[in-house]
Amino acid sequence: MNISALVVGNWKMQLSHKGELEIVIALKKLLKSIDLAGAAVVICPSYPSLPVLAEALKKHATISLGAQNVHWEEKGACTGSVSISQIAPFVEWCIVGHSEQRKLTRETDEEISHTARQLLNHGIRPIVCLGETAEERAADETVSKVTTQMRTLLANMTRSLLPQLVIAYEPIWAISSNQPDFLPDPADTAGTMLLIRKLAAAQFGNDIAQRMLVLYGGSVSSSNVGQYIKEPGVNGVLVGSASTHPRQFVEIINTVQQLAVK
Ligand code: PGA
Repeated sequence: MNISALVVGNWKMQLSHKGELEIVIALKKLLKSIDLAGAAVVICPSYPSLPVLAEALKKHATISLGAQNVHWEEKGACTGSVSISQIAPFVEWCIVGHSEQRKLTRETDEEISHTARQLLNHGIRPIVCLGETAEERAADETVSKVTTQMRTLLANMTRSLLPQLVIAYEPIWAISSNQPDFLPDPADTAGTMLLIRKLAAAQFGNDIAQRMLVLYGGSVSSSNVGQYIKEPGVNGVLVGSASTHPRQFVEIINTVQQLAVK
C-alpha cells in the first residue's frame, strides 16, 4: 500500500499489559467500518506486549505495530536493552530518538542515525523524532538544532531508503508531559517541517524527498489535530497521551485521513 498519511500512537509506559490489550480490542472494533484509504495507523505499546498484540492484530490490515525504541547494537552485554532482531518478528515500525529516551540514555545524533539505518537494513521503518528544547527555542536555535539532527541522520541514508524513513518533528517543550503553557503555531511547525524536507531534497533530490513522511508531534488531540494536519507538507501525527483513549485516537485518525490523504 502506498501510505500518504500516518498516525502513530506512542503509549510510552502509561498502561498495564491488560490495558494495552483492551485498547487494541477497542480500536479493532472502532476502526472496523472506517475506510482509511491511503492512511496507516501504527501503535507502539511496551515491549512485553508486542508478541501478544502482534497475534491479536494478525488478520487486521489497518493497524500495525511499532516499538518505542531499540538498541543500535546487534547483540552484546547490554543489560535491559532490546535489539532489532528481538523486535523484528513483531513490528514493522520503530520510534527512534524520542526526546524522553535521548534524555534517559544520552543517545547521540550519530547513534540515532546508525540505529535508523540498521532498522532499515532489517526492513523495519524508523520513525525518527527530532526537535528543539524550550531553551533552544528561546535562544532562536530551532533551525540550527533541527538542521544538525537531520544532516547527521541523512549521512546514513541512501536515495532508495529515504522513502522508508519517517521523521516526527516534536518540539520537546510542546509534549504534553512537559505541561506546555501554549502550543506551537501550526504555521511555525509546518515551516520547520518544510526545512526538514528541504534538507532531504538538498541531498537526494526533490522527488525522493517528497516521498519521505514528515509528522508533527506534541500534545496532539482530537480538537487541535486539524490545525496541524491541514498545513502543507504535513503527512500525519505522532500522538502520545491522546492515543491511550481509543475514541479520541480514532477521531484523530479520521481527521488525518480526511485532511492529509492526498
Ligand atoms: P503527547 O506525546 O502527545 O502526549 O504530547 C507525544 C510524544 O511524546 O511522542
